[in-house]
Amino acid sequence: MGNRLIGYGSYLPARIMSNADFERVMDTTDQWIVERTGIRERHFAAENETVADMAVAAARAALENAKLKIDDIDMVIVATTTPELDFPSVAVQVVGRMQAQKNIPAFDVRGACTGYIYALHCARAFFTAGMHERIMVIGAEKMSRFVDMTDRSTAVLFGDGAGALIFERSSSSYSGIIDTVVMSDGKKFDMLHGSPDHKIIMNGPETYKQAVTLMPDAARYIMDHAGITPDDVDWIVPHQANLRIIQSGAARLGFPLEKILVTVDKHANTSGASGALALTYAFDNNIIKKGQLVLYPAFGSGLTWGATLIRV
Ligand code: ACO
Repeated sequence: MGNRLIGYGSYLPARIMSNADFERVMDTTDQWIVERTGIRERHFAAENETVADMAVAAARAALENAKLKIDDIDMVIVATTTPELDFPSVAVQVVGRMQAQKNIPAFDVRGACTGYIYALHCARAFFTAGMHERIMVIGAEKMSRFVDMTDRSTAVLFGDGAGALIFERSSSSYSGIIDTVVMSDGKKFDMLHGSPDHKIIMNGPETYKQAVTLMPDAARYIMDHAGITPDDVDWIVPHQANLRIIQSGAARLGFPLEKILVTVDKHANTSGASGALALTYAFDNNIIKKGQLVLYPAFGSGLTWGATLIRV
């Protein structure tokens, strides 16, 4: 039992923080940020704008794109690491705020920057088991809540936003989420984690070193598992953390740069929303076309890492 992609949508907060805006409030430069990360700007949510607000906006856009209503969906999964409330889940809030008449099962997945891959892994498992008809998978983050304006080494890296994809059960196992792999190594917890007072604690160079190995490893693993080569893949949509990590990973895998989708310049690192935001950007701009095969590897705090293959 397979699935296919039937809708997509995203939401980016109105406020854009450029590198020049950071230059005004901390000891940094546009040149340093662009050279080290490839980031030029990011969106920051308003003070009173929540992760659930952004998730609802992305969900509405995806439903409109699919020409469906919330009650046509029979499961909602939200990948998020930055919910304002410990409970209930953002997914439940989305279903409630959209006035669903059915009792749609809804839950969050917390996998940091690999969260969206973990969420897709769950969706694929439910489709494979034949348990659900239509699943909406949302990635939504308010990373700006964790941004410490006194720490220039992390403040410039992150952004806010949400993206949503809707998948429907299908008899084909060659469309939609075709394959997923997820992994973790909790012994590397210290490398990158949140603090109780909502700060990002990160060993940047060590995180960089792990990322340039783990993302290509996951990509290679999933290609081997699916019995395909880089020639079969139309696009790589890597987790958008840093342009240098993306380029180094592509080189390790032998992928030409023309096949790599980059949105980190516009969105920065939106953690669990990164993949869905990058994909919806590519669909909206007719960059990734219907029928193409996308390989999406990610890594993040935990450490966690993984990859998925999606035929769009
Ligand atoms: N502006 C100017 N200078 C800066 C800034 C800044 N914003 N930030 C750091 N610097 C300085 C440092 O203070 C240091 O100065 P010093 O040499 O005088 O001490 C110098 O730049 C070099 O610092 P490094 O940390 O060695 O710089 P590096 O080249 O490693 O780049 C970076 C830092 C961009 C953070 C890089 O290590 C990186 O991208 N790491 C991966 C981070 C990442 O992807 N995190 C997200 C993980 S996913 C998730 O789950 C959240």
